[in-house]
Amino acid sequence: MSHHVLLLGAPGAGKGTQSKKLAAEYDLEHVTTGDALRARKDMETEYGTPREYMEAGELVPDPVVNEIVEAALSDADGYVLDGYPRNLEQAEYLSEITDLDAVIFLDVDEEVLVDRLTGRRVCDDCGANYHVEFAPPEEPGVCDDCGGELVQREDDTEETARERLSVYRENTEPVIEHFRQTGDLVEIDGEASPEEVFDRITDVLEEE
Ligand code: AP5
Repeated sequence: MSHHVLLLGAPGAGKGTQSKKLAAEYDLEHVTTGDALRARKDMETEYGTPREYMEAGELVPDPVVNEIVEAALSDADGYVLDGYPRNLEQAEYLSEITDLDAVIFLDVDEEVLVDRLTGRRVCDDCGANYHVEFAPPEEPGVCDDCGGELVQREDDTEETARERLSVYRENTEPVIEHFRQTGDLVEIDGEASPEEVFDRITDVLEEE
């Protein structure tokens, strides 16, 4: 079984959804740069705050993100890494600080991605993830788990979602191609129910 798992995919491919399930199933740490940066949105750095980049759909500068990942990985025994690396420089940095056992790419068509992102709602209190159509809460706007208010992420408007997809194509697709060429990439069709996609991933991990 793999204990150092990297999940790659475009915005909305289901990395967060699947990482949470994998972390629970295999007792792994869920290391996610998106959540880590959202928790530090107003942190002052020499490049400004993460918020400025995130709300525009742009990448936060590498030194800020690399430091977060290095600290998180050094505290983790087994992990599932989600949202990093997003460019070749980050991929190079990652190869210097850890070894990967499995690299999984969730493949989802672009128009499906836009529908998933614009319909996503997250709980303001506990962070649980919903979708107005594909994974609705029992009561609209209310979290099933804790009763908190469901809100839309600031970067999930259609305009910012499309900008994030364009940043992904330019910066992160070369990372996918890099792992394809090293022969490490396992490609999984991410256009199925979350349960079906999870089964596809666990089949791969249990073969490793
Ligand atoms: P981040 O938070 O990492 O966002 P992302 O990569 O754009 O990914 P998402 O969280 O949007 O999508 P996901 O794949 O996790 O999908 P989810 O499971 O939620 O990054 C945000 C920002 O932070 C970046 O833009 C950047 O500014 C910055 N940043 C982060 N990392 C960085 C880095 N390394 N370097 C520089 N900057 C960085 O699913 C989406 C929706 O679809 C949900 O509503 C869900 O319910 C639904 N869904 C999921 N699976 C399915 C399914 N199988 N069928 C139907 N619906 C589904």
